[in-house]
Amino acid sequence: MIILRTIAELRTHLANFTHPAFVPTMGNLHDGHLALVRQAKPLGDVVVVSIFVNRLQFLPHEDFDTYPRTWEADCEALEAAGCDVVFAPSEKELYPEPQGFTIQPPSEIANILEGHFRPGFFVGVCTVVMKLFACVQPRFALFGLKDYQQLQVIRRMVLQFALPIEVIGGQTLRAPDGLALSSRNNYLSPAQRREAVQLSQALQFMAKAVQSGATDLPALEQQAMDALTQRGWQPDYLTVRCRSNLQSPAVDQVSRLAKQAGLVILGAAKLGSTRLIDNLEI
Ligand code: PAF
Repeated sequence: MIILRTIAELRTHLANFTHPAFVPTMGNLHDGHLALVRQAKPLGDVVVVSIFVNRLQFLPHEDFDTYPRTWEADCEALEAAGCDVVFAPSEKELYPEPQGFTIQPPSEIANILEGHFRPGFFVGVCTVVMKLFACVQPRFALFGLKDYQQLQVIRRMVLQFALPIEVIGGQTLRAPDGLALSSRNNYLSPAQRREAVQLSQALQFMAKAVQSGATDLPALEQQAMDALTQRGWQPDYLTVRCRSNLQSPAVDQVSRLAKQAGLVILGAAKLGSTRLIDNLEI
């Protein structure tokens, strides 16, 4: 495994390959990231993982400064998972001047859910992903399904800009109790870690209700949010959406979409100061 810090070095190295498979990350890797690397291995003739904590996608009050940087452990794990190239540019390398050009994703997909609670988040994500795509020029790019909306936004970006990249989603990995693996789980105290599973359980509760015929989604969503609030969480949203566009389904579509695997339940909630997200396709 080779570690490259500049775009020039990366381009020179990748000139020897025709179809790189690329996994963009912000480091602090867990098994979910490593599963993406393993998934990438048979696809590409070289597997590239980027590690770059992207300031552009953090709001001023968010955890950019404290986001865990676990370089040594990340490299060890990547090597064991079969990564060939780690691209770890400095901020100066990736943003040599203030990034005046940005990618503005369409508001109907990017200003809802995560984008509503984290304004500008998807501008930051799309801008850095576009830039990383320009550096790596991958044939395949892999993103975790845990960041469901992010994957959708990136798929749309690739489609609308006609980028010659196949975007592939990787299944969410879960701890034995059901908590989705996330870099931010490390922030949880032991008591919070025990409580954290309630988010995925809330999604499961909603899934069962929809599968048993519930169609009053606003009432169901409120019930699930109230239950988490009573346990001390601060939910941002727990909501049933169409998989295709992340919009709320009309009442008369709910049962049909549930039967046709057309729905996804998305949730985001804060436990103490840690914000967790999860989703469940139904
Ligand atoms: O999902 C992430 O870790 C980040 O949003 C990404 C895609 C690496 C862009 O910084």
